[in-house]
Amino acid sequence: MKDLENVNVSRRDFVKSSMVMSGGILLSTAPGKVFAQANPKNNAINVAIIGIGAQGRVLMESLAEIEGLNFKAVCDIWEPARKYGYNWLGRKTRQKVNVYEDVEDMLEKEKDLDAAIVATPDLWHAPHTNMCLKAGLDVYCEKMMARTVDEARSMVKTAQETGKLLQIGHQRRSNPRYIHAFEKLINEAKIAGRLTNANGQWNRSVAGSADIPYNPKLSIPKETLNKYGYADMYQFRNWRWFKELSGGPISDLGAHQIDIFNWYFQARPTSVMASGGADYFAKREWYDNVMVIYEYPQPEGAARAFYQVLTTTSAGGGYYEQFMGDQGSIKMSENPSLSKIYREDASPDWDQWVNMNYVKRSEAYNASKESTTVDSRETAPLVGYDLPIVLNKPPHMPHLENFFSAMRGEAKLNCDALHAFESEAAIFKVNDAVEQKRTIEFTDADFAV
Ligand SMILES: NC(=O)c1ccc[n+]([C@@H]2O[C@H](COP(=O)([O-])OP(=O)(O)OC[C@H]3O[C@@H](n4cnc5c(N)ncnc54)[C@H](O)[C@@H]3O)[C@@H](O)[C@H]2O)c1
Repeated sequence: MKDLENVNVSRRDFVKSSMVMSGGILLSTAPGKVFAQANPKNNAINVAIIGIGAQGRVLMESLAEIEGLNFKAVCDIWEPARKYGYNWLGRKTRQKVNVYEDVEDMLEKEKDLDAAIVATPDLWHAPHTNMCLKAGLDVYCEKMMARTVDEARSMVKTAQETGKLLQIGHQRRSNPRYIHAFEKLINEAKIAGRLTNANGQWNRSVAGSADIPYNPKLSIPKETLNKYGYADMYQFRNWRWFKELSGGPISDLGAHQIDIFNWYFQARPTSVMASGGADYFAKREWYDNVMVIYEYPQPEGAARAFYQVLTTTSAGGGYYEQFMGDQGSIKMSENPSLSKIYREDASPDWDQWVNMNYVKRSEAYNASKESTTVDSRETAPLVGYDLPIVLNKPPHMPHLENFFSAMRGEAKLNCDALHAFESEAAIFKVNDAVEQKRTIEFTDADFAV
C-alpha cells in the first residue's frame, strides 16, 4: 500500500494548489469554473470523490479513463490527501476541483453534483453515503458497506427512500471473467457438476500486514482526529484493526471472497461457525486470523464453504475462491494467474465447452502433470483448463463503468445496496461467531432490511 505522505507533489503543482487552499481548505474562488473542462458533454456527470487514500487513488486511475465525467470536488480530512486529489486530477484530466475537509460542507456548497464516490474508512461509509443520497446524489461506496450491519441496513433504506442509485464496491461482480464463470460455467454448462463445497482465502504475510506509517510532521491535529472518530494518527492510518472503526480482516478482506460464495451459490448461508483470535500483533484489536465454515442450501443438498483470512503468512497461494463439484472445480481469483478450471479425470470430456469457447485446455498445466504416477487408492490428477476471458482494464473499472451506465439508464447496477447487504449480512456474523464460540443459525431477519 502506498504511503500517503510520499505523494509526489511537484513544486509547480504545490505553488498552484496553495493559491486556492488555505490550511488545506478551499477559499471561495470557485476554481471549478476557472479552467476549461477537458471533457464536459451535455450529459456529463458531475462527480465528487470522498476519501483520497489508497483506494480513492486506485479508483481515480479508472475514473480518469471513463468518458463523460466532470470532476467537481474532492473531500478528505487529511491535507496531503486533498492535495494529492487536486494535483493528480488537475494533471491527468486538466480539470480543477474544489477541495473540502468535510462532506457536509461540500454538499452545502456544491449544488450541481450528480454522483459521489465514497472511499473513506468503513466507519464513515454509512454517514457519508446517507448524506449524499439525501442530497440527491447517486453513490458508489466501497465495501464493506459499513462498520455494522445496522449501519449497512440504513444505507439500503436511504437508497430505497430517496430512489437514488447505490452501488457497493464488490468489483468482482462486474468483472467479465467472474461473470463468464458464473453465467456460462456454473449456470449454463454446470461444468463442475453438483457443487458440494467451496474454499476461499486471503492469506497475507506479516510484511504485507505491517503498520501503515505516517510522517509526524504531517499529523492531523488531535482535536480534528477526535472529531472524526480517530484516537490518534496511528489509529487513523491503521483503522482496519480497531473495533470502533472497522470489522477487521474478516470484513476487510473476507468481504471479497465471501461475496462470491453468496453470488455463485445463489443462496444465503443457513449457518456459520468460526474461530479466530488477536494472537500476533500488539496494539491491534481485531482478530488477525479467522477460519470460517458456512453451510449453504443447494438444490441437491447442503454445500459447505470454508474461508480463512490469515495476516501472518502468505502460504497457500494468496487470495481466491474455489467452487468444487463432483465433476470438476472452478478456482477464481482477481489475479488471473491464480485462477484455474479443473475437470475430474473420470468425468465426461469437456470438448463441447472447449468448442464453444467456455473454457480452453491448459496445455502447459496438463503436460507438467503427465509424469505423475497415481496410487490405486488415490484419484487421478485433475485435468486443467483456463478461462478464455481476459479483463484488459484495471479490476475496478468495469464496476465504475456499470455505475455510470446505470446513472444514464443504460444498465442495471451489478451490486446494488440490497444485494450487497444480503451478501454482507453473512460476513457481519462471523465476528459474532468467533466471539460466542458457537455455530450461529441465520434467520430471515438477518437478511431483512
Ligand atoms: N474494493 C477494493 O478492492 C478495495 C481495496 C482497498 C480498499 N477498499 C476500501 O476502500 C476504503 C478506503 O480504504 P483505503 O485503503 O483507501 O484507506 P486509507 O486509510 O488509505 O484512506 C482513507 C482516506 O479517507 C480519509 N478520511 C478518513 N476519514 C474521513 C472523513 N470522515 N471524511 C473525509 N475523509 C476521511 C483519510 O484521510 C484517507 O485519505 C475502505 O472502505 C476499504 O475497505 C476497497
